[in-house]
Amino acid sequence: MNVCIYPGTFDPITNGHIDVLERACRMFERVIVAIAASQEKRPCFSVEERLKLVEEITVANPKVSVTTFSGLLIDFVKQQEANVIIRGLRAVSDFEFEFQMALMNRQLGPEIETILVMTKEGYNYTSSSLVKQVAQYGGDVSKFVPDNIVKALKAKFSQN
Ligand code: COA
Repeated sequence: MNVCIYPGTFDPITNGHIDVLERACRMFERVIVAIAASQEKRPCFSVEERLKLVEEITVANPKVSVTTFSGLLIDFVKQQEANVIIRGLRAVSDFEFEFQMALMNRQLGPEIETILVMTKEGYNYTSSSLVKQVAQYGGDVSKFVPDNIVKALKAKFSQN
């Protein structure tokens, strides 16, 4: 069975990420959303919060499972016995970083392939950081993230 891993920090997941996930589901029998702890990025949501939020969004899709990981992505992919990593490209500017990661991952695990898919037009400028910034200052982010994320952002920023 072709198992695909969709890794990211997902702090928080956006409609752009969901678009990539839907594309992955059309190509693979099973897709594992792998939420990286990414402590170095000082995430706004804890890894447990990010897990819960992504689970709420994907619960109705039997092809998708969600989990967290720390350490090297390639080790996690091997441990899951997956053979593909999928990542989204929003613009040419994403390519350089994705290309470097894909080639490094290929050095570490030559049997694992990275697939880069282009996100739907309209999501090119969506990013987790921008969404957080807009939400922090009370802006409407409902066009960019699902409802549960809108609520979670409101709750997070009303605490601070
Ligand atoms: N739609 C919308 N936004 C997208 C997107 C899409 N399709 N694809 C990427 N983004 C944005 C995110 O919103 C996020 O924005 P931000 O920087 O403003 O927060 C940014 O691009 C990237 O976030 P994300 O997609 O969540 O992934 P990431 O780049 O943080 O994930 C890992 C990187 C986790 C896959 C990588 O660091 C990793 O593998 N870490 C494990 C350690 C390791 O193995 N390192 C060696 C790698 S070779």
